[in-house]
Amino acid sequence: KTGKFTFDPGFTSTASCESKITFIDGNEGVLLYRGYPIEQLAEHSDSIETAYLLLHGELPTADECTDFRSSITYHTMVHEHFKQFFYGFRRDAHPMAVMCGAVGALSAFYHDSTDIHDPKHREVATHRMIAKIPTIAAMAYKYMVGQPFVHPRNDLHYTENFLRMCFSVPAEDYEVNKTLAAALDKIFILHMDHEQNASTSTVRLAGSSGANPFACIAAGIACLWGPSHGGANEAALRMLMEIGTPDRVGEYVKRAKDKDDPFRLMGFGHRVYKNYDPRAKVMQKACHEVLEAVGIQDPLLDVATKLEKIALEDDYFVEKKLYPNIDFYSGITLRALGFPTEMFTPLFALARTVGWIAQWQEMLEDPNQKIGRPRQIYTGAAKRDYVPLDAR
Ligand code: SDX
Repeated sequence: KTGKFTFDPGFTSTASCESKITFIDGNEGVLLYRGYPIEQLAEHSDSIETAYLLLHGELPTADECTDFRSSITYHTMVHEHFKQFFYGFRRDAHPMAVMCGAVGALSAFYHDSTDIHDPKHREVATHRMIAKIPTIAAMAYKYMVGQPFVHPRNDLHYTENFLRMCFSVPAEDYEVNKTLAAALDKIFILHMDHEQNASTSTVRLAGSSGANPFACIAAGIACLWGPSHGGANEAALRMLMEIGTPDRVGEYVKRAKDKDDPFRLMGFGHRVYKNYDPRAKVMQKACHEVLEAVGIQDPLLDVATKLEKIALEDDYFVEKKLYPNIDFYSGITLRALGFPTEMFTPLFALARTVGWIAQWQEMLEDPNQKIGRPRQIYTGAAKRDYVPLDAR
């Protein structure tokens, strides 16, 4: 049932840890959450059921799912004083800066989730983190657009609740569009975990010192923000907007191939996938579904489609095994859902919080867990004696 995978990663493996959560085969374009193909989970599961799977290793029974859903719902609201924390930010602060600060501050409000050696505390911390991150992301959005915060409701599904907390206004409540909520829920599933990527490794390293879970997740948010990582979805849409029309795609493909030009195709390439990112295929389908549901023809989709076609046929990208990754189509989709570009990476962070906290929990449950301590190859000066100032 949990047969050990033996695989040749195609490179000298620098495995940093053992994990049972996510398996990636970069050459074959395979992604499994606890053994289940990402395509099947995106098609048949939902964010709460998949979160349970990542945390517990098995798909929940009906009762287990009900209990888990109730616990998450119970923890969606944030401490009333926590709101004051947001008012310290400038209105034009990037929502990732707000989320980084706000999540890091959670330990000041929820002391009973910081004793990481108590399994009950750890369980509450995982549920609290998964429950509150949509509320915090929605608050970051509301603060950015200058609208009042919206409280979560207990009668709405996880993703529906998030959409309402973002788009409801005092003058008019937000009526949940089930199609759009289902599409966003699928996007959350695609982004939930991805083995030991940069931000997950950051969370594990922070957690290995015994830091509280909220501080560890804040570290993950900080790392994800980078344009080479989670910030790529925002950068990819800005790139498509800069290209503007399909006839200008060739000029940018040429720039991406020019070693003297720092320009890279955002949403292309991957440290592990040397084949098509399986999430990108599901993302592309979700993109078409959302555009059809909202009834818009986004000209940037034509730019993206042309760019993908040219790149997949170009020897440079074929030889370097560069394919679209999850970030290539997500920006167009999220914009069609009504989110500004600044919210794209916060949405990635919202979803990845599930994987981060599952990996944090797995690490702490390992009886042999020790503090992380990466080593280095020293390339500095050989040992030498001090030289007094008047002799230099
Ligand atoms: C995510 O790790 C994860 O799992 C991350 C993630 C997750 O779910 O957590 O999947 C999420 O971060 C996806 C990646 C999002 N980033 C982007 O889309 C930014 C654009 N992509 C690149 O910056 C780049 O592809 C990286 C950072 C993702 C990977 O960079 P690497 O490690 O340099 O890639 P590589 O070793 O495979 O590059 C091979 C060659 C290099 O040229 P040479 O040194 O061989 O001459 O291809 C070039 C690279 O310069 N190259 C690109 C390119 N990506 C790599 N050239 C043009 N455009 C690109 N996008």
